[in-house]
Amino acid sequence: MTRERTTVVGSTIEINGLSKSFGAVRAVDDLSLTIRPGVVTGFLGPNGAGKTTTLRMLLGLVAADSGSATIDGRPYAELASPAAVVGAALEAASFHPGRTALDHLRVHAPMVGVPDAACSRVLAQVGLADAARRKVGGFSLGMRQRLGLATTLLGDPGVLVLDEPANGLDPEGIVWLRGFLRHLAHEQGRTVLVSSHVLGEVQATVDDVVVIARGRLVHESPLSDLVAMAAAQVRVSTPDTDGFVRLVTEQGWDFSEISGGLLISGASPAQVGAAAHAAHLELHGLAGEGMALEDVFLKLTDPARAQVPA
Ligand SMILES: Nc1ncnc2c1ncn2[C@@H]1O[C@H](COP(=O)(O)OP(=O)(O)OP(=O)(O)O)[C@@H](O)[C@H]1O
Ligand SMILES: [Mg+2]
Repeated sequence: MTRERTTVVGSTIEINGLSKSFGAVRAVDDLSLTIRPGVVTGFLGPNGAGKTTTLRMLLGLVAADSGSATIDGRPYAELASPAAVVGAALEAASFHPGRTALDHLRVHAPMVGVPDAACSRVLAQVGLADAARRKVGGFSLGMRQRLGLATTLLGDPGVLVLDEPANGLDPEGIVWLRGFLRHLAHEQGRTVLVSSHVLGEVQATVDDVVVIARGRLVHESPLSDLVAMAAAQVRVSTPDTDGFVRLVTEQGWDFSEISGGLLISGASPAQVGAAAHAAHLELHGLAGEGMALEDVFLKLTDPARAQVPA
């Protein structure tokens, strides 16, 4: 009988002062972060930000120049049975096209140190039980992604590290992946770290977000904090733009000038209204409005590029 574990104790991932250069390129630059179990964490950053390099160092595939990356307090190389601790899919895996899904897993099982029965278990977990005896050469991209995930689950690891797992998935595949990853974290207690260069792709999946740009940490919080940052904008219409610029600068709020007024971030409409009233500034309109979450992400990763539209 195969039985799916219902409670898995995930481990904490700790990254401390991690750095790596390739020649003149500082791919990862003094990066420190903590990834906790029981939630899905999105590891976000634009192309070339250093996500894959960080994950490769975490998995002992690339040596760090300095700093440390540990799982449950140990570097990957010192884990007694790594496959039972962490399952990782770093890039679209290549499969032997002539092999069936089951055979692909049977090749991996001895390396991971699990019995044959584990192969059917993980295929069922990813919804490929019916395709177990079909040749992988005929699999769709989404089916291959599922098989890749099944491979990472063979050792029933408490930690899953997935580099851009949503790449190439159709909307239905993304919905499936979302439910699956959340189940692994929330119901089973695993640590799930998922990288992506598009926030929108993982927005509905992740609980926590870590954002890096040019190898450095630029943001780390629950997703809800990022959503709150997106919501905190106030549009002010006024004939006295100069007066408002002085006021907003005094208050230390961020702003941009728009036609007929200002767009202020970091303050609520009530705060802006009260400050305007106290300063006797003429106010024609005051409205709270949201920024697209993707714009917050852009602003974090490339402040120069993120001009708030007027
Ligand atoms: N083996 C390597 N040799 C030289 N430069 C490398 C190597 N690996 C990564 N880099 C460089 O390090 C930087 C970070 O790359 P990395 O692949 O970690 O980014 P990423 O965040 O995963 O990007 P993407 O979203 O495109 O996957 C890039 O400038 C990249 O060109
Ligand atoms: Mg990458």
